[in-house]
Parts: sequence; structure tokens; C-alpha cells
Amino acid sequence: MSRTHAYNQPRGPDGSARRYLAYGADYNPEQWSREVWAEDVRLMREAGVNIVNLGIFSWARIQTGPNTWDFTWLDEVMDLLHDNGITVDLATATASPPAWLTTAHPEILPVTHTGETLWPGARQHWRPTSPVFREHALRLAEAMAERYGNHPALVAWHVSNELGCHNIYDYSEDAATAFRGWLRHRYGTLDALNHAWGTAFWSQHYTDWEQILPPRLAASHANPTQQLDFKRFSSDALLEYFRAEREILRRLTPHVPVTTNFMVMGHITGMNYAEWAHEVDFVSNDHYVHPGPQRLDELSFSANLTSGLARGRPWYLMEHSTSAVNWQPVNVPKAPGELSRDSLLHVAHGADAVCYFQWRQSAAGAEKYHSAMVPHAGADSRVFREVTELGRVLGEDLAEVAGTERRRSRTAIIIDWESRWAVERDSLPRSGLDHHQEALDWYSAFLDLGVRADVVPSDAPLEGYDTVIAPMLNVLPQDVADHLTAYVNGGGHLVTTYFSGVVDQNDHVHPGGSPGPLRELLGIRVEEFAPLLDGASLALDDGSVATLWSDDLAVIDPSVTVLASYASGHLSGQPAITRRSAPGGGSATYVSTHLNRKDLTALSKKLLETFGVHSELPEDLRERVELTVRAGESAEYWFLTNRTEESVSLAGLAGEPLTGLSKTGEHTLPARGTVVLRVPSGS
Ligand code: GLA
Repeated sequence: MSRTHAYNQPRGPDGSARRYLAYGADYNPEQWSREVWAEDVRLMREAGVNIVNLGIFSWARIQTGPNTWDFTWLDEVMDLLHDNGITVDLATATASPPAWLTTAHPEILPVTHTGETLWPGARQHWRPTSPVFREHALRLAEAMAERYGNHPALVAWHVSNELGCHNIYDYSEDAATAFRGWLRHRYGTLDALNHAWGTAFWSQHYTDWEQILPPRLAASHANPTQQLDFKRFSSDALLEYFRAEREILRRLTPHVPVTTNFMVMGHITGMNYAEWAHEVDFVSNDHYVHPGPQRLDELSFSANLTSGLARGRPWYLMEHSTSAVNWQPVNVPKAPGELSRDSLLHVAHGADAVCYFQWRQSAAGAEKYHSAMVPHAGADSRVFREVTELGRVLGEDLAEVAGTERRRSRTAIIIDWESRWAVERDSLPRSGLDHHQEALDWYSAFLDLGVRADVVPSDAPLEGYDTVIAPMLNVLPQDVADHLTAYVNGGGHLVTTYFSGVVDQNDHVHPGGSPGPLRELLGIRVEEFAPLLDGASLALDDGSVATLWSDDLAVIDPSVTVLASYASGHLSGQPAITRRSAPGGGSATYVSTHLNRKDLTALSKKLLETFGVHSELPEDLRERVELTVRAGESAEYWFLTNRTEESVSLAGLAGEPLTGLSKTGEHTLPARGTVVLRVPSGS
């Protein structure tokens, strides 16, 4: 039976398959005494916690030597949790290898591209491709499954932890061997590899597989296709490792769903989650906010993409923070209300679990300044009071939301991991390109217009979307181009941007000028890229300001409408933004530069008006409020998130408030607040 995208939610605390909103945290009892454990479960009950992620960094305490095991403390914790009605998402405990293992087998340690070893002393110091690591880790996973597979508290398996957080790129000998195997599988012959990598350039021709290496520190730019393939390989190697653990768990405990926590957030690019999402029984994500003007938009975008990876089905928020983290240059705490607002924005985008790192703030170790559900200050604190109130909201006010799916939007924004990888490399027309940021900027523009957009991976079906934004789609194989062309010819409106359609899957430039296989569809052809220096800008004749990039482009189809032209610089008078209407009512728009937020919002407004896409929010709420909708059988749940620091009147919005408003009083959305309305379906 295929499990692809099955949403297999863990059993509820009462043992039933009833849907519920899970609430909890990573729980690390090994850092505390038994007296503290007793207080922990008491406070968990007070806070409405019904699930914990347990044993994540417990390898050294469970397997104390090659053949010595100590499960007694974990047995006790599992029983204690169960006795208190708290379920367990149990880690296989393989995330961080113990000192006895790395001392006996230093050959499991990862190696950087400059040849330095990543020594033990932190965490995740293991090579994804090490056969020795794998043997030991799988033995532990098996022991965990045998010991706890039938424990009544167990509701899900949590493989390792944030696979690839620190060890995604390993350049060791093990990696070199595995990379060659991966390349043989991809290319079959050396001739095919030599062609794909363009090794005629710089005398890089290979005559033996053994000559091939990971892209270690080289005299100049490493071969670009080698770099791209190494990224593909590195994502695949960790996914392969995940599968190895998962297969043991499925064999021994077929009744328990298996997940691993993704890191869908702006700065993490290494794992191609569009592929990984097919391999888990339910999608889980960790997310941490970054301070800055797009803080909340980025949270929404990442949650939205996680929902896209889960194909709209409910997913698990495995970790986020109650307040400050410890790993940013300045770790700013959350203001009153932000804890709840941030959590509920994930729920708005389909999370059926709200979990944090971690339950109790550590007294020692690298993360002792990272917030938790129980802070250093103890339960008599604002954080714990907000934690307890959110537990009530999830358990009572929003209980009926559990299990509902995200309602599709009419617009989709595409994220493509391969394009992301290709533009973050060296030896490009310009450095500083950021596929994810470009997509996020479009998303912010749509939020400013009060228009919902789904963020989806590039392999997602596009049927049903009126408009698709595909920003910086740099790697464009013919089949993806065909897919987009069929979409437009079927009546869809496609918008794509600069540096799209430039290369194929081998990172070979499409001949004839970009956007390669989309030239005809767009009716334009880029003759030369014209990136702009940092700080430089060009004027467009519609009053917008162009930065980062411009294109010297030619219109090749007379039916193309020029929406804006360059009005300064040597491209002055030439088209900057174009649209071609397709015979079936669809259209293809090309934006050849980067626009600031105000100008991108103005352009999006014009485009969406042309495409007939409108906001579902009353005019005065647009920009200030994000609307996200989850759809149940007889009702929809409208999550209204305040994007501002001021209260917003919701007068005029119909629907029964489930949370965030007094059920009878004035409909005012507080600053940094969330309101959820139940709206009967079809109204
Ligand atoms: C990640 C890890 C956790 C913890 C948090 C801190 O999400 O999985 O173990 O380190 O970061 O933000």
C-alpha cells in the first residue's frame, strides 16, 4: 500500500483515532532529577499538554557502551507520561552519537569542504553516508522499536532530529564513495556524466569513476553541475538514511506512524522537502522566526509551504519557540500575545499540532538561554500563563478545527528547490540572488492586498489555480516547461521573473536566450542579462524602481503587451514587464527585474485585477489582516491574524467567533492577536 501523503495522525490521548489539536514540546527529562519529572507532568496537565517529543538526544543515556543499555529511566518516564494522559512522539534517539562511539570510530565524523573534521562536542557529528554510523544507529532504532513499540503512550516515531541541520554537506571519503554510486545511478555511463557536467571545459574530462570527488575546496569555481549534483546527492543521502530507519520501524511497529521534523524556513535550503514529503507518514515542521520587517510574513509563508508539502492535509508543528531563541546575533523575546499569534498562524495553515522546543528551559548546555514552555522564572511567569491559555484555546475553543484541511486559494506561488540551489551558487551573473526571498516578496505583496496565495512545491498539480507565480525558476527542464505551457494554454495566468528558464536539469544554458522553453509562451527573448550593482537602481516608466537585476529583452510576438518599460540607463525605452495573452484565455507575464515592496504590490494589484482575482476581505482589513481558511464538512474556519501592532475593527465580518473575541462584544482584533470565526460552508 502506498503511504504517499497519507495523513496518519497519531492516536489521541484517550487512545482513540479522534482528531485533536496536539499540544506539547520536546521533553528532555535526562537533564533533570526525578522530583522535577513529577512537577513536569503536573504542569503539563495544567498547561493542557497532551504530547511530548521524547528521547531526541538520549543516545548516550540509553546505550552506555557498545553492549550496555539502560532503558530503566526511559521506561519510568514513558509510564509517568502515560499515567498522566500524555502521549509520546518517541525519537529513535539517533540524532547525536555518544562519546564511546566517536572515540572508537572517529571515521564516522563529517569532513568539511576544506578537509577539516567536525569533532564531537556539539551534536549531529556524523556522516550521512557512514556505514559504521548507520550500523550503530540502526541497531539503536531497532532496540527502541522493540522496547517501546507496544507502549501505550507511544503514538508516533520521530526519526533522528532535523536531519541535515548541521551535517547536510559532508566531503569525507565515505561521501566521495557514495557520491560516485549516486552518479553512476543517475548517469549510467561516464560519457553521460562528462556531457552533463560539461567537462570539456577547463580540462575536467573523467576517464574513471574513481577520479570523481565531491566539490572540495578547489583553486577556482568548482564545476557548477558537480555542485548542483552534490546538493541533490546530499539531500538524497540523508533521505536514504531516513528510509533505513523508517523501514526498521515499519517492520517492527507497522501500527505506528513515522515522521521526521523538517526545517521549512527561509535560511535552510539543503533538503529537498518536495521529495522528502512523499516519504513520511505525516509532515512535521520546525520553524523559528527571524526578526525583521517580514518576520510574520515569513512565518506564514513557511507554514503555507509546509501545508503545500502536505498537499493541504493537516501537519505537525514539531518545534517553534515560546519566546527568544539562543542562536541569533540578538535573541529578542516575543511581545505579549506573539506566542499565541505565532502558534495559531501555523494552525491557520493546517498544523494540527503546536509543539515547542522545549518543555523546560535548560539550566546548562548550549541552549540554556533558549526559551521554553516553563522558563527559568518558573510557572509564575507571563510565558507560562500564555502557554496555559493557548493550551485552553487549542483544547477547547478550537477543538473542532482538528483534522480540517486548508481551503485552496486561487493563486499559487511556486518554490523550486533545484532553482534555489542553482542561484545560491558561485559564478553567476550576480551573487546575492535568493529564490526563496523573491517568492516571499511576492507573497508579502499578496498579503498586502489581502489576497490568499498557496505556496506549493514545483511538482504540485496546478489545476484549479487561476494564477501561478513562478519566480526565479532558473532550472527549467523541458517537462516542467511543458507543464507550465499546458497550464497557460488551459486558461491559467502564469507570472515568471528574471533569471527564469535559463538552464536545463544539467545546468546547461538553453540556447537562444532565456526563458528558454518559455520564450514562445511569454513572447519575449532575453538577449543579455544586465544585473545591477548593489545600491544601484533604474526607473521604470510606471514610476516603479528596479533594483538587483534588469534584462535586455526583445519582444518576439507582436501580440505581447508591454506593461512597463525601463526609463533610465542604457535599457531606457526597452520593455521591463510584459504580458502575452494565450488563445485559451490564459496569459504569460514576465517581470525582468526586482521591485521593492510597494511597487511589487502595485504591480500585483494590476495583474490580479486583470486575472479577476479579488480579496475575500473587506477593503479596510486588507494589508492589516491575514485571512487563512481551513475547511470542515459543514463550516469553514476563518483565521484572522493581525499583522500590525494596533487593534483592528472586524465590524462587518460575519461568522461566529470561536476564539479571540468575546462571543457577544465588539468585534475587535487585538494588536498581535488572532480571531477564529466559524463560517457556515457556502455562505
Ligand atoms: C532545533 C533543534 C532543537 C533545538 C532548537 C533550538 O529546532 O531541533 O533541538 O536546538 O533548534 O532553536
